[in-house]
Amino acid sequence: MPERIKIGYVGIGRFLPEKVLTNERLAQLVDTTDEWIKQRTGINTRRIMSSDESVASMAIAAAENAIENAGIDIKDISCIRVGVNTHLRFPSLAAIVQNALRIPNASASDISAGCSGFIFGVEEVFNRLHFEWMMFGRKSYSLVIGVDGMSLITDWSDRKTCVLFGDAAGAVIIGPVQSGEILATHTRTQGEYADLLKLDAFLEVPAENHKELTFKKFSLIDYPFLSMEGPKVFVVAVRSMVSEIKTVLLNYNKINGTDLTEKDIEYVYPHQANMRIILAIADSLKIPHERVYSDGVKNYGNTSTASIPVAYVDKWGMNPDALVIDVSFGSGFASGAILRKTASK
Ligand code: ACO
Repeated sequence: MPERIKIGYVGIGRFLPEKVLTNERLAQLVDTTDEWIKQRTGINTRRIMSSDESVASMAIAAAENAIENAGIDIKDISCIRVGVNTHLRFPSLAAIVQNALRIPNASASDISAGCSGFIFGVEEVFNRLHFEWMMFGRKSYSLVIGVDGMSLITDWSDRKTCVLFGDAAGAVIIGPVQSGEILATHTRTQGEYADLLKLDAFLEVPAENHKELTFKKFSLIDYPFLSMEGPKVFVVAVRSMVSEIKTVLLNYNKINGTDLTEKDIEYVYPHQANMRIILAIADSLKIPHERVYSDGVKNYGNTSTASIPVAYVDKWGMNPDALVIDVSFGSGFASGAILRKTASK
């Protein structure tokens, strides 16, 4: 059996729509204020797709940037995974990206894990790349994308949710590295909380007639929208992300006989849902605020699956081989964390 290789991030990329939606503009649409939004969420602005942009076009643009940043040959990409909640059709978004970028013969599929789809994708390709090397001696690269067009499923008349979300895509190329490797991963789903955050089904089969498939609610005012019990989500989000950080460290320590704790972590990239959630995680683990990424929530709002890979482009250069953790939480409730060293470039 071959020696273990190091697998890590080889390239990063993202796409943010140009169009900026401000708190002031939202205050013209619903009964809210800039002050309330900033105080309760930390969000100043978010980006919204224009009519010539789509979830697919954002994913393709982010993937192109990541491939260019990695400097790899497109033919060496063996696997594409796309974390996405707002591609409500088939074929998969991964297949659309594969075709647009002419990536031949890759295994391409989407991942539905709420805002944690990107983390689930990274975990999957990390395991897959190791397996391919250990079993077949094959080295290749994978493309993982996190993308969401949350504006498509936002009820713009509901002040409790419409102030929170934005549109974006982020992508990474993962493959063999000399340094900056992924050290441990952890994901889990707590289905018992599924009803707290969901998108209404838009097709239904009435119980009295199973042959008849009808549109449930399909008008401009009753479109299927995201709904959420915000305060309950808040509590589970903090508890889960704190737990996932501890668990990924435990996973690493168990295998390596080490004693890493939160104190050894130089930087954390948490899912950008709400500034108060981010700070509550930091405080609970006694991690100084300056070591936790939060510019995303201020500038782009909650971009769901995109929020972590979008962050990398804002904050990439750190001490080579510094320990960092990516941690996420989302509908399902699906959550997870990645422990890794920072890449050298
Ligand atoms: N402007 C003004 N007032 C508002 C607004 C608004 N935009 N939204 C709600 N309010 C009002 C409510 O109506 C309520 O008024 P009432 O007391 O008269 O009924 C009051 O503010 C308090 O409402 P709460 O919902 O309790 O406000 P809270 O402080 O909890 O903040 C928020 C709401 C921001 C949604 C918060 O609960 C939160 O961030 N929860 C987590 C949400 C989240 O992160 N979801 C996504 C995670 S997974 C993913 O990323 C998809």
